[in-house]
Amino acid sequence: MIILGVNEGHNASAALLMDGKLVAAISEDRPARQTTRSGFPFKAIEECLALGGVTKGDIQRLAISTMHLPPKYFWIPREVFSIRDFWREQNDYWKPRLFEGRRPVYMDVFKDKVDVSRFVYDSALIKDEDDSEGMLEARLRHHERFFGLPRDRITVYDHHTCHAWYAFMVHPRRLEQDLVIFAADGAGDGVNGSVWFGPRGQPLRALHRTNQCNIGRIYRYATLLLGMKQFEHAFKTMGLAPYGNPKYGAAAYDVFAETLQVDGLGFSYRVKPRDHFFHFKDKLEGMRFDGIAWGVQKRTEELLSQWVGNGVRETGCGHVVMTGGVAMNIKANKVVWERSDVESLYVPPGSGDESLAIGAACKVAVEFAEVPAETIEGCRPMSTVYLGPSFDDAAIKRLLERMEGLEGCRVETVALSRVAQLLAMGRVVGRFAGRAEFGQRALGNRSILADPRPREVVRTINEMIKQRDFWMPFASSVLAERMPDYVINPKNLQGDFMTLAFDSTAAGQRDMMGALHPYDHTSRPHAVHREANPGYHALLSAFAEETGVGALLNTSFNLHGEPIVHTPEDAISTFLRSGLDHLLLENWLVSKPGK
Ligand SMILES: [Fe+2]
Repeated sequence: MIILGVNEGHNASAALLMDGKLVAAISEDRPARQTTRSGFPFKAIEECLALGGVTKGDIQRLAISTMHLPPKYFWIPREVFSIRDFWREQNDYWKPRLFEGRRPVYMDVFKDKVDVSRFVYDSALIKDEDDSEGMLEARLRHHERFFGLPRDRITVYDHHTCHAWYAFMVHPRRLEQDLVIFAADGAGDGVNGSVWFGPRGQPLRALHRTNQCNIGRIYRYATLLLGMKQFEHAFKTMGLAPYGNPKYGAAAYDVFAETLQVDGLGFSYRVKPRDHFFHFKDKLEGMRFDGIAWGVQKRTEELLSQWVGNGVRETGCGHVVMTGGVAMNIKANKVVWERSDVESLYVPPGSGDESLAIGAACKVAVEFAEVPAETIEGCRPMSTVYLGPSFDDAAIKRLLERMEGLEGCRVETVALSRVAQLLAMGRVVGRFAGRAEFGQRALGNRSILADPRPREVVRTINEMIKQRDFWMPFASSVLAERMPDYVINPKNLQGDFMTLAFDSTAAGQRDMMGALHPYDHTSRPHAVHREANPGYHALLSAFAEETGVGALLNTSFNLHGEPIVHTPEDAISTFLRSGLDHLLLENWLVSKPGK
């Protein structure tokens, strides 16, 4: 059976499942070249179908994620918001509603941001900007028309069901272990936290759903109060937190700790704030920025840890899975996996909303396809995270011959040992090879690589291309067989997707100081297995041969504010607009003049 999963909300995406196998999954932001893109994912759908060698007409079932998506967020795509726009949203939209008894219209507040050019749905079905019921009908009719499928072949699942099913279905040991799954995010379909139990080989069932799991909401507003974008920049607050300490952070921590509490599998409030922005804005006024980051991070870790502890106790299951946007907080994940009652923790790649399309498709496969319901072994979709498009050598050669801007660059095919030598000399190399990774982390195929040993490499890359904030760490790719040398992983967790953090060993601090958090020396590694990515494993091995170091600094291949490169054209354009020394395009090495 051919099933297409579609997510039209935040981080829009598509996923193609053919006979129980996930053959493609793509976030719209990559081909559309706009970060966190929302709306109907035309390009991602087109690319998924091409990768499966099928057409729209071949799709037998559609799996749609999220019932309620307010039209206002389609008409005013918040991915273009600046930090000041997010503040305006609070001051001009939420404050009058919450505190002044007024009901401003979102479309009026943001009339300068209205963009209906990508709105493909029938507006006549929608009463007002909050009419998500009308919006759902408009979405369904659009899908019927676009794919030529009758309504009974289209299934819409609620947001958290899709989060949980994704994490459950891609878990590598789902058939051998019971699993307890925690999904936490900003919110979707009125839920922002859910707990699920997956007995081995059996369908997943919900234990608890809540709209009070406001961990993500508090974190994103703390991020906004720190002068950063509330959705995209939460990881910057996390990166800043280790620089704080109790001296400057205790007061901020107290502000967070007196509100939201864990209550069984749900949450309640000790002091219920009227909202989650102005309450904290008033209470945190005058406190130091690093202390606020430290305080909100510490409280987040405590809440998630207690919540997981309660779920483990309730189910008697110590094999934990975390998903949803909040699961991207790798430092909180570390506190969770360090709990003595947690036997293992798995956080799948792309645990934000981009994976909802996969979750929806998996659920349809189990509910409607020829997958044996009693076992569901037949649907085990994720054997690889490399689920996007690839480009062959010949096509790349043709492109290199005709693309402007490469005059003066040296183009050659070289052995990996030569690339390893360049890296060891301190050169920074963009690598574009194989199929694009799914999710927000570059896992070698659309990556910028460098020698991870020197601390100064961070500054070099920042000046060349990334313009990252000075406090933010870079991550590493590590030969899987060298992981025990570099990170402390007593539970032998799967550190394959940069979704978990570990303390580093002395050897880790010697060999990859440039790819550790500069203050606490934690690592967010990408363990590279030969069978998962042979070409990248070979490059890492060549670097190890050259230097003895079994790791590379790996950061996503993009310019500041742009999505990760998707095509060879994107890679060359990014290479030319940056200070990158070399670009490795499949087997072609492009070097700037003099390099
Ligand atoms: Fe979500």
